Amino acid sequence: MSRPYYIAGNWKMHKTRAEAAELAKALVAGLKDGKHKYLAAPSFTLLETVGAILKGGNILLGAQDCAEEEQGAHTGEVSVLQLKDLGVQVIILGHSERRHLYKEDDALINKKLKLALKHGFEVILCVGELLEEREAGRAEEVCERQTTEGLKGVSAEELERVTIAYEPVWAIGTGKTATPNDAEAIHAYIRKIVGKLYGNEAAEKIIIQYGGSVKPENAAQLMAQKNIDGALVGGAALKAETFIPIAKFQAV
Ligand code: PGA
Repeated sequence: MSRPYYIAGNWKMHKTRAEAAELAKALVAGLKDGKHKYLAAPSFTLLETVGAILKGGNILLGAQDCAEEEQGAHTGEVSVLQLKDLGVQVIILGHSERRHLYKEDDALINKKLKLALKHGFEVILCVGELLEEREAGRAEEVCERQTTEGLKGVSAEELERVTIAYEPVWAIGTGKTATPNDAEAIHAYIRKIVGKLYGNEAAEKIIIQYGGSVKPENAAQLMAQKNIDGALVGGAALKAETFIPIAKFQAV
């Protein structure tokens, strides 16, 4: 089965409205003939501006997180209902910065994920080990736990709206990319886990992105791996000159 490639930009906590609008316009122009699936995920405050520019095109609008409750007394949080109102289609959950800087655990991420799916969103579930976990030979175990716990209670039907992003934490924003072979090994392992949970057909279907210092120079080699189906891009997603070549990588 051939899976589509899915290239997503996580803009993190960058850009004002004017800067975001400029980037969004450049992406719309540069990717209008792009053949893959695309996503731009700006900060909450930029969603309306960016959404208006992406509307009707081939780049999905994504949020970087959501609250675990639908509404209520949760100062500072943003709910799925508010994201839906802005036309958001995809929610990134369990990003390593959420897990490690903001202490989100698997149970919380799972709660958010189920709520997002219940409200019809697609989600990107991020998993990935810390450097010390890799060095202790625990990369597979960590990814297995984050995948299994993150997907707890998700039906096979809902799984069709889930993408997994494998992002080794030591490769994020550090300029260090996992080698294509190292990344491929974990991607294959995560696919095996999905197979154990949902069967082979679902495992073959699920898109698994790689994230961590993806750049125009390494995108094609990563994407050439059998189990790498796209990328979740941080730093290089902040400029059209670097995101577009990744999004339009030339298969090797
Ligand atoms: P990076 O970030 O491309 O800057 O390493 C990736 C991510 O955090 O999604």
